[in-house]
Amino acid sequence: MRAVLVLITSARAFQRPHHVPKPACPAAVPDASPAEYERVYAADCEVGAGLDERFYDFNRGLVAAVKGFLDVFLEGRDVPRFYVLETLARVPYFAYVSVLHLRETFGHRDDDHVARIRVHFAEADNELHHLLMMEALGGNASVVDRCLAQTLAVGYFGYCCALYATNRRLAYHLSELIEAHAYETYDDYLRREGSALKMQEPPPVIREYYESVDGDPPKTLYDAFVRVRDDEQSHWASLAGLVQFDTLGGGSVATPPCAADDEACLAAPDECLVPAVSR
Ligand SMILES: [Fe+2]
Ligand SMILES: [Fe+2]
Repeated sequence: MRAVLVLITSARAFQRPHHVPKPACPAAVPDASPAEYERVYAADCEVGAGLDERFYDFNRGLVAAVKGFLDVFLEGRDVPRFYVLETLARVPYFAYVSVLHLRETFGHRDDDHVARIRVHFAEADNELHHLLMMEALGGNASVVDRCLAQTLAVGYFGYCCALYATNRRLAYHLSELIEAHAYETYDDYLRREGSALKMQEPPPVIREYYESVDGDPPKTLYDAFVRVRDDEQSHWASLAGLVQFDTLGGGSVATPPCAADDEACLAAPDECLVPAVSR
């Protein structure tokens, strides 16, 4: 009998520890950077709680692989790197809108659906203006870089559509990782090149864009990059809320679209980032 007990106890010692689920992380904390959120707020909780961790690891691996490749390919070339990044950045929002639009065709038209289309359209428009700025700065001068960015974008679009159609929280997680990377990339650039950027004028396309958004156009190229970086932070914060709770209300809604009337507006008019989209 004693021998049996010893055997059972020994066998248990080799069992994998039972996984104790951690609580879900809070939605993105306003004004926290992605790195701060990871370090301070998401230390003892589970990002994307309730979903299979393996898929999250796959997303992380995919982003790390593409980032590693771009680090080597675009080493020492900041503006082309931003051009490639911004070409890719608008793709997921376009993919979300495409899938939502198709579902709309089949009759999905509730309030949450309409709100998602509006928010993701606004985010795609915001990313487009980042891209236009990088093109105006010469980031797309090389045909090789253009081919690389556009080829990656086509593949990325297909992957985002498939992921969003089957598991949208996972699709949001992929974008969350990319937005966090974008924030860190611009933040690092501002730290390194800040004094030189303060001496330069921003391209008219981005000055006019922010003028139309809130009447406060960037005065220097440094200011323009700060605005772009902060946009990435707000995209990331919105996505972090969508990953955690699969709801637009879960985090701060980034770049919310404006509506013609206050009732249909998703945010206070002075916080809207694109001209009215009527329902
Ligand atoms: Fe961007
Ligand atoms: Fe972004």
